[in-house]
Amino acid sequence: MCGIVAYIGNKPAQPLLIEGLKRLEYRGYDSAGIAILDETTGSLDVCKSVGRVAALEDKLEEAPLTGSVGMGHTRWATHGSVTDINAHPHTDDTGTICIIHNGIIENYASLRTLLEEKGHTFTSETDTEVLANLIAELHDPDADMDLESAVQAALREVTGAYAIAVMSSHEPGVLVCARKGSPLIVGVGSGEYIVASDGSAIIAHTAQAITLDDYSVIRLTRDGFRTATIDNVALTPKVMQLELDLSQIELGAYEHFMRKEIFEQPKVLRTCMKGRLDRHEGKIVLGGLMSFAKELVKSKRVILGAQGTALHAAMIGEYLLEDLAKIPAECEYASEFRYRNPIIEEGTVFVSVSQSGETIDTLSALHEAKDRGALTLGVVNVVGSTISRETDAGVYLRVGPEIGVASTKAFIGQVCVLTMVSLFMARRRLMSPEASARIIAELETVPDLMEQVLEQDEHIKEVTAKHIDRENWLFLGRGYNYPTALEGALKLKEISYIHAEGMPAAEMKHGPIALIDEGMPVVFIANKGPQYDKVLSNISEVKSRGGHVIAVATEGDTEIRSLADDVLEVPEVSDMLSPMLTVVPLQLMAYHAAVLRGHDVDKPRNLAKSVTVE
Ligand code: AGP
Ligand code: GLU
Repeated sequence: MCGIVAYIGNKPAQPLLIEGLKRLEYRGYDSAGIAILDETTGSLDVCKSVGRVAALEDKLEEAPLTGSVGMGHTRWATHGSVTDINAHPHTDDTGTICIIHNGIIENYASLRTLLEEKGHTFTSETDTEVLANLIAELHDPDADMDLESAVQAALREVTGAYAIAVMSSHEPGVLVCARKGSPLIVGVGSGEYIVASDGSAIIAHTAQAITLDDYSVIRLTRDGFRTATIDNVALTPKVMQLELDLSQIELGAYEHFMRKEIFEQPKVLRTCMKGRLDRHEGKIVLGGLMSFAKELVKSKRVILGAQGTALHAAMIGEYLLEDLAKIPAECEYASEFRYRNPIIEEGTVFVSVSQSGETIDTLSALHEAKDRGALTLGVVNVVGSTISRETDAGVYLRVGPEIGVASTKAFIGQVCVLTMVSLFMARRRLMSPEASARIIAELETVPDLMEQVLEQDEHIKEVTAKHIDRENWLFLGRGYNYPTALEGALKLKEISYIHAEGMPAAEMKHGPIALIDEGMPVVFIANKGPQYDKVLSNISEVKSRGGHVIAVATEGDTEIRSLADDVLEVPEVSDMLSPMLTVVPLQLMAYHAAVLRGHDVDKPRNLAKSVTVE
């Protein structure tokens, strides 16, 4: 979902901006551009191109830009087709104001009409160009409306979401940035600032960063910065330490980030659990929840809100909370929850599950729940992200930055954290220390068991290769592994572009069974769980109609081998912990299908790593 990077300091801006854009490529985009203000000549130059950052670099080869204050953008088009003209940065019609923007200006059409009536002209189809002309219309250094004031005034007129960087050839040496609903952080160097959508474009320069809340504006010069609201009320800056190191965001010996992140799951799962499991006391230690432990224990209902992979993890969380903590729980698409006029009664806890902590649907659902009085928890990976800062409490995944657009280790981390949160509450409600200690002891073995599943990578690739020409797959599971089936289908869809549908295994009989034709790949999660026999019946129903059954089964299960055409084994583990194992063959199947079909595994078409527009 687009990337923003901006720089003000004393080094040549172009190489810094290009390096920053490359660090942000994983977020997903369709075009890229940079603009640099050369304070020695006063020229403000823009270079932009459809396609990859490499295409932009080719253009810059011929005509490099000079100067030490500038901005760069990778666009994920929302308003206006994917063209050079619609790519960012955008200037106003006089070429003096330059802007990059992540988000949507919802009232851009009415503003554009107003500005056209004032004589402004437009060259692009974007909403962003409207903001450039609006700032230009308001900017008048002689009339005490400097760039910071003009940006504040313009943002008071817009509705929608934005993370922007703005500069003006009339105010060299000044960079003004602002955000609402889209992510933006400011790296603090010595005599320089690097602004970006997330820490991956900053960490190579500094680990000190300023986080901005919604409606914040920051004015940057080489001598310092000022933060204020869009109403110009001064704000105390919030400085944080970025917990990132370059090795975490580099490919290393792997071919793709997704493969690296699948294979580092055992390691990051150990990190996720480290210091949080007290087996002897049968307790879970979650510092981020302690100040709300009493409220959590007395809570009457839990609602979980998320999207995509995070939603599938949240669905498993729903089962875990009811199973372990004996509390009513329900999982909702965040995008549906926020518009549904939900009932939030006394004692409701709302849990936002999100890898990026910036997904606008999940963030908006959080706002809705909070406004209605819910206690809000975040289960988030990115430290200092908006959701992590706006929830009352929360638990970080600690799985390290996830670069591959298809989420893998974050899913494992989310399921693990939701297991720990459920145990945290269960132990303070009805669960005995012994029962809790038993589950904790088994949870600690999951990373080693996961290593065993990863050893089957070659076999999983062979099974996948047999079906990569099939354009329709089904993924079926029951109980804890119904959400896992949904996750397997999503993984396959988003990186191999094969159509796949996940559903409860029992649901297949109520219509989708009509889809089964000769050789259709149907993936069953058939581990030895409480509904194992029912799953075997569903497998027979598929087999009798010619489907090709791929079963994710418990190691040593001989019965399944007489039924399924292919078997992918996972070690025995309690059903409630099984999704962390059964999902791994599904992740690898999707990965191999995408590679065998020649797709860009880490930057699949149309997708964004963090969806910060509605
Ligand atoms: C996951 O593979 C997808 N790329 C996507 O569905 C993602 O899970 C979803 O957009 C939610 O993102 P979040 O976890 O950052 O909120
Ligand atoms: N809405 C803007 C456009 O379509 C910005 C999209 C983005 O976030 O990249 O150009």
